[in-house]
Amino acid sequence: MAALRKHWARSLLDRVPRPRSEPIVLGIETSCDDTGVGIVRGGLPIFNKRFTSAPRHEPHGGIVPEIASRSHLEYLSKLFTQELDGAGIRLKDVSAIGVTVGPGLMGPLLVGVSAAKGLALGLGVPLIPINHLEAHLHSVFIGEKEGAYPYLALIVSGGHTELVLVHGLGRYENLGRTVDDSAGEAIDKIGRVVGLGFPAGPQMDQVAGSGNPEAISFPPVKTPGMAFSYSGLKTAALLWIRKNPGFFLPDFCASFLRAAFTQLIEKLESAIAEFRPSVVAVVGGVAANSYFRQRLKELADRWGVTLKVPPTEWCTDNGLMVAYTAYLYLRVSPRLTEQDIDADPSLDLGMPTPGLTG
Ligand code: KG4
Ligand code: ZN
Repeated sequence: MAALRKHWARSLLDRVPRPRSEPIVLGIETSCDDTGVGIVRGGLPIFNKRFTSAPRHEPHGGIVPEIASRSHLEYLSKLFTQELDGAGIRLKDVSAIGVTVGPGLMGPLLVGVSAAKGLALGLGVPLIPINHLEAHLHSVFIGEKEGAYPYLALIVSGGHTELVLVHGLGRYENLGRTVDDSAGEAIDKIGRVVGLGFPAGPQMDQVAGSGNPEAISFPPVKTPGMAFSYSGLKTAALLWIRKNPGFFLPDFCASFLRAAFTQLIEKLESAIAEFRPSVVAVVGGVAANSYFRQRLKELADRWGVTLKVPPTEWCTDNGLMVAYTAYLYLRVSPRLTEQDIDADPSLDLGMPTPGLTG
């Protein structure tokens, strides 16, 4: 790590000067199995690169924190020594560093936080701790000078399924979340059973493209209010698989995804009916799904709301959303606690991010 820091401080690029007025913010994301580094200049994306250790976890059937941590270390070195260099970005122009401090896996988070601390110290720039969910929430505004509030948001990732009212930067009201699995977890688990890779979402998306979403009906989910649940659908899907050997995979995938998304659409629709937002954002890895995006568009058209869904590469975990959220905090001049930040695996949206009090 010392050699790496020396390399950062010494060499990283000496080209293209940027005006002082446009802060260049670098974001580091290592909360799970994706290693991401992104950079925004004045809120505009100028660099975004990601490596995933997913194939290394596949034989184990789920994410192994130790493997993820080691992979982050390896990939961060590559990102800083090769990728940034190759993109012609010089680290000495960076005005601030944002880093995901939680929620996520402790080991992986610590790798990112340690790298960010070293880098901020070496460059003498502020270090901004970022809540991973908050970064997803703001991913819909990347490229804009500031976020537009209020809006209703649905976070659908591998670890989270929750509905949130976003009143402003750092001001979030949770409306409901899953009581068991997240939508992404259910997709990944059932995908594994039917022989898709890990994570199964992207492959299931592709396979479902040639299937009939009406081929199989799974029982509707009946959780109260705006709470979500995926254990019932998971069990129903497993039982169906057992009873129907030799089934047509595309039909199964399309029908399973339809059931998984119907719940999301129904809960989102009740939140729209109750809160009447003019803007609805849907963020997180599952929002990359093509069929889901189509159903979201239909929902938005029905209610006449503006739908904001990030481009697919910004749905899954990435460093750019962290850089952008840090940029937003930098704009409102938070009182930062210098290098004194720490990883918190169970950070919630309702909780203040340690070290970020402004
Ligand atoms: O946001 P994300 O990258 O990581 C977390 O913060 O958890 O989300 C990962 C989840 C995985 O469950 C993955 O299978 C799912 O997003 N996913 C998809 C698609 N792309 C990723 N699910 C359905 N369709 C996709 N195209
Ligand atoms: Zn995520």
